[in-house]
Amino acid sequence: MKKKATKPASTSRQMHRRASGTISSRLLKWYDANARVLPWRARKGEMPDPYRIWLSEIMLQQTTVATVGPYFRAFVTRWPDVRALAAASVEEVLAAWAGLGYYSRARNLHACAREVVARHGGAFPDDEARLRALPGIGPYTAAAIAAIAFGNKATPVDGNIERVVARLQAITKPLPAAKVSIRNAAARLTPESRAGDFAQAMMDLGATICTPRAPKCSLCPLANSCRARKAGMAGELPRRAPKAKTPARYGASFVAITKDDRILLRRRPAKGLLGAMMETPSTAFEYVPPENALTHAPVKGAWQARGAVTHVFTHFRLTLDVYVLKGASARALAPFGELVAVDALDRAGLATLFAKVIRKARDAA
Ligand code: ADE
Repeated sequence: MKKKATKPASTSRQMHRRASGTISSRLLKWYDANARVLPWRARKGEMPDPYRIWLSEIMLQQTTVATVGPYFRAFVTRWPDVRALAAASVEEVLAAWAGLGYYSRARNLHACAREVVARHGGAFPDDEARLRALPGIGPYTAAAIAAIAFGNKATPVDGNIERVVARLQAITKPLPAAKVSIRNAAARLTPESRAGDFAQAMMDLGATICTPRAPKCSLCPLANSCRARKAGMAGELPRRAPKAKTPARYGASFVAITKDDRILLRRRPAKGLLGAMMETPSTAFEYVPPENALTHAPVKGAWQARGAVTHVFTHFRLTLDVYVLKGASARALAPFGELVAVDALDRAGLATLFAKVIRKARDAA
């Protein structure tokens, strides 16, 4: 006789849980098998090093994993612990940071290292509140360090985690208004133990499977629990409110090249945009009528216009007209800054913007 296909007394939801576990347990199982190998991550059985976790989290703010890798390795080789970094000068740190952008992060990084040494005996605090009191550590970074370096229950929410959670719970309210709901939902999903692995698993899932466009739901360990997938809208979430247009600013920059291929650089003022970074001499970042541009050049000479470069900062888009002076006299330039050989530019602490300016000046040369 055939068995009757009736459901047992326990609900299908309980059955489902028993069969496949909670969201966090399924995700952790997936992570154990699929975690990305990243230079700052502790390997299986290794204790995480709070210095490396902190450094990586600061570097990863607004920057991709692929870009950060070489910078992270260079930093930990040169400054293997927080005391070594605190003993460096801020100029050395800025020079090593050059190319990562958002240079206030490097200044805060250095200030933070000094404070950890001076106020915490060289050991990072392990709770979010004391971490947040340190320079450059906001709510996200404090939660990431507390969870990943110390295994405390905390929920960092970065862009990847935001996307995964918005989809799991089908949160259709647009960002940034949805941030609070997403954060609360993420906190509810965080397990009591392995909160750091859980956060990194969410990040990895977001980076490799739950991608912004065309998510690979067929590979997702959480597909059965994903409300957006059920509703057929995974690829559309999270929604975003339309952005206000970034304002435009303008200026001019001057690349003086000597016969022996050295370029005039000077240090920007410590305060303000790209503070204390090296630059090719430039006007203030405000509109300079082209016919007046050369009145701002550091020396007189046969300057040639080389077109413009554009760089996007957080709050504005900057377009700099580029002028080049070839075969300039080293003696005439010396009072206006420092002459740096073209081959040594990548060690000079140039902000990305001015590396672009120099490329533009030399490309057409
Ligand atoms: N992005 C920010 N922090 C990260 C981490 N610890 N692992 C992977 N991606 C990240």
